[in-house]
Amino acid sequence: MARRDGGGGMATDETAWLRAADEVDAPALVEVTIDGRVVRLPDGEMLAASLLAAGYAALNGSIVQGEPRGPFCLMGSCCQCVAEIDGVPQVRTCRVAVRAGMRVRRMMDASPVRPPDAVA
Ligand code: FES
Repeated sequence: MARRDGGGGMATDETAWLRAADEVDAPALVEVTIDGRVVRLPDGEMLAASLLAAGYAALNGSIVQGEPRGPFCLMGSCCQCVAEIDGVPQVRTCRVAVRAGMRVRRMMDASPVRPPDAVA
């Protein structure tokens, strides 16, 4: 097994991170409703990342013509990931943790920031 000592005082084994990953317990899956469909997502993980992993890349429509948009920055800056959560519109899903019973509605057809004269 190769060892690497970068001279920084910390010798590392190249496979140490793999063993560490094996030692981490995977979070329990909880049921969340997305557009009325029940899906199981990892409890406590960030909602945007969990939705991406579950195949939900588009969470809302663009402000002009409604083109699908989804998480981009994953750190709360771009607002591309907004969705309705438990009846509250425009929630940044990258800033919310998954919890059991959460109701998510994608805002594909009703962007709250769409100007009134925009092409539908
Ligand atoms: S992905 Fe950019 S604010 Fe959520």
